Amino acid sequence: MPTSFIITLSVLFLGVSLQTSKALDPFACDPNDGTTRNLPFCQVKLPIQTRVNDLIGRMTLQEKVGLLVNSAAAVPRLGIKGYEWWSEALHGVSNVGPGTKFGGAFPVATSFPQVITTAASFNATLWEAIGQVVSDEARAMFNGGVAGLTYWSPNVNIFRDPRWGRGQETPGEDPVVAGKYAASYVRGLQGNDGNRLKVAACCKHFTAYDLDNWNGVDRFHFNAKMVAIMEKVSKQDMVDTFDVPFRMCVKEGKVASVMCSYNQVNGIPTCADPNLLKKTVRGQWRLNGYIVSDCDSVGVYYGQQHYTSTPEEAAADAIKAGLDLDCGPFLGQHTGDAIKKGLLNEAEINNALLNTLTVQMRLGMFDGEPSSQPYGNLGPDNVCSPAHQELALEAARQGIVLLKNHGPSLPLSTRRHHSVAIIGPNSNVTVTMIGNYAGLACGYTTPLQGIERYSKIIYQQGCADVACDSDQQFGAAVDAARQADATVLVMGLDQSIEAEFKDRTGLLLPGRQQELVSKVAAASKGPTVLVLMSGGPIDVSFAENDPKIGGIMWAGYPGQAGGAAISDVLYGITNPGGKLPMTWYPQDYITNLPMTNMAMRSRKSQGYPGRTYRFYKGKVVYPFGHGISYTNFVHTIASAPTMVSVPLDGHRHGSGNATISGKAIRVTHARCNRLSLGLQVDVKNIGSMDGTHTLLVYSRPPAGHWAPHKQLVAFEKVHVAAKTQQRVGINIHVCKFLSVVDRYGIRRIPMGEHSLHIGDVKHSVSLQASILGVIKS
Ligand SMILES: *[C@@H]1O[C@H](CO)[C@@H](O)[C@H](O)[C@H]1NC(C)=O
Ligand SMILES: *[C@@H]1O[C@H](CO)[C@@H](O)[C@H](O)[C@H]1NC(C)=O
Ligand SMILES: *[C@@H]1O[C@H](CO)[C@@H](O)[C@H](O)[C@H]1NC(C)=O
Repeated sequence: MPTSFIITLSVLFLGVSLQTSKALDPFACDPNDGTTRNLPFCQVKLPIQTRVNDLIGRMTLQEKVGLLVNSAAAVPRLGIKGYEWWSEALHGVSNVGPGTKFGGAFPVATSFPQVITTAASFNATLWEAIGQVVSDEARAMFNGGVAGLTYWSPNVNIFRDPRWGRGQETPGEDPVVAGKYAASYVRGLQGNDGNRLKVAACCKHFTAYDLDNWNGVDRFHFNAKMVAIMEKVSKQDMVDTFDVPFRMCVKEGKVASVMCSYNQVNGIPTCADPNLLKKTVRGQWRLNGYIVSDCDSVGVYYGQQHYTSTPEEAAADAIKAGLDLDCGPFLGQHTGDAIKKGLLNEAEINNALLNTLTVQMRLGMFDGEPSSQPYGNLGPDNVCSPAHQELALEAARQGIVLLKNHGPSLPLSTRRHHSVAIIGPNSNVTVTMIGNYAGLACGYTTPLQGIERYSKIIYQQGCADVACDSDQQFGAAVDAARQADATVLVMGLDQSIEAEFKDRTGLLLPGRQQELVSKVAAASKGPTVLVLMSGGPIDVSFAENDPKIGGIMWAGYPGQAGGAAISDVLYGITNPGGKLPMTWYPQDYITNLPMTNMAMRSRKSQGYPGRTYRFYKGKVVYPFGHGISYTNFVHTIASAPTMVSVPLDGHRHGSGNATISGKAIRVTHARCNRLSLGLQVDVKNIGSMDGTHTLLVYSRPPAGHWAPHKQLVAFEKVHVAAKTQQRVGINIHVCKFLSVVDRYGIRRIPMGEHSLHIGDVKHSVSLQASILGVIKS
């Protein structure tokens, strides 16, 4: 809903605001309002809980119900304005969600690469830095009255199936990477000021959600259970895959909100499941924040899934399950009647409001004059500033992944490659580069504009769009490649192929793109490089196998500065260091694989291949973690223990197989505190170009039916100058990362030989239970 702020329609030029934004009126507790400013809930010095309880105590039931929805009603009697909770900031302040309105003094915002690209940097410092910039811009826009303070980002669902249209929004298929991304980005958004929030982030969509519209099954009707193989999303998959990013987001990122999803898990809508919301997110993980529904989950499970027979039951179920806020009108319409019918009591509503109002207080919304508060000074000059735009470029450079460099064909040289043929439907795109859940970018550098800075260009689009239905323009493209000193094809996907509401039907390049690439490569005078834009993986085996195609590069959706970053990598200004955050499967992987089958683990007897590098062992086009550099790195392990003893909690010792089962110790029965495994790894750059290397440390637990066959346990990024060496210290938290989850969903640390892999280097560590220091009871 629009706020009282009036959007000025005057013409604005980038970075030059002709009109200063008007000072924002306080949301509540206006110092000029004599009737409210002295009430306890407005007293900044009182503890937040006291203030919230005071406020709840003053409201009528009807007023309370008005606060259960995203377009929260005003409470004029208490000097509280209406508030729109729904804003988005997945990779920059977004215009998806009614809480944010671009325009006036804020026509644009910095548009970072889509998350799948940023994830490929494997750089947690970068992830947090982006969050800081985005929240600066969000606060500036809030101060200008055009945005909220509650952002329903990031999306940390596991990218489980390569066809998922929203895979682009996620940090990929690995739970630990996704969890680390979540915690870092959330810290960046929320700031580091104790209990105070810069903006409130939200990890979504809890849980086992990663299907939009596949083969007639849509996300509103999907019951995320394993079809045919087992009856349910197994406890094991839940705990060791789907939950992990959310747990890390809540426990390590201290996120202020979690969103439940549209789908059902094992027959219960996630937003109506007390086991998921009350017990897990709030109870076990101790969420300090609010739980919100996806937009309009509650209405959907009543109206479309027919989960309850009356709307009042649907409302009561949601609130009883632990939902605090409805994105959608449903709870505003039906909660009052649910109370009248005795399905719910007012104390349960108070609980929900306690969670939402506490977040608003932590944001400073009840602290009076916004301009005198922390971040109150941020304004239009803090949006799209040169430093922010530079970080968007830097993020794209760090996220680009070099997949193939035969010859080597890359980098191109300004000296040898005077003219470059630029071919393909994504050569000169703008909004394609920012993917979905974006805003309006500060400005764009397209690939063509980037390359133009280094060579003379001959541009032929080849296909009218990514669907590439016709070969009409192929002849001209082939001619261009014949003339030029080098050829760059910028191909791939866009939101017409993969998007929210749209899963892919196959993994190959769309339409006749492959044919265009092969024809152009065959005719090229110089080296041919294939640049791919996409969120999901593409089966480009044809190009990997074509000796005429010297280089393949994946740029994901690289954001507003994507073309500059692509050309910087093409010409070696930047040495690529990105790694794939998801497996690139061959097309036949999906032939008999329903998207609706949630099982992570393979079932050989049923021909079920398993999902992600942790469980799928078949053929790949490029594996998770693949990505090459213009230089070569060599690792050696400088020091690492060969044995680690895992001390048991004294009280648990001797409690039979509850503690030690199949030679694996329950994590809750071990003394985990600071129990870590320290490695020192030397990374030597043996090539002639400075470069950045990502160390991916995998562990292979002792054989057993519970475990993934390998699992990423740590990653670390290091810059190493040519012909030099850097020592990298890595600490692996034993209980968190060397544990595996049994069939009952219990996390255990297997005793015995764990094999650590870093590139080609292997190191074996033996874990042994230690009963030293046992406390005899
Ligand atoms: C490339 O795109 C830019 C921005 O949309 C546009 O101004 C320019 O004319 C395009 N260049 C060519 C050669 O089509
Ligand atoms: C060990 O576990 C099994 C299966 O849960 C159980 O039947 C058995 O009683 C347990 N034994 C002990 C000593 O706790
Ligand atoms: C990680 O990203 C930050 C922020 O862009 C950058 O300063 C740092 O150099 C990066 N780390 C490495 C090893 O490249």
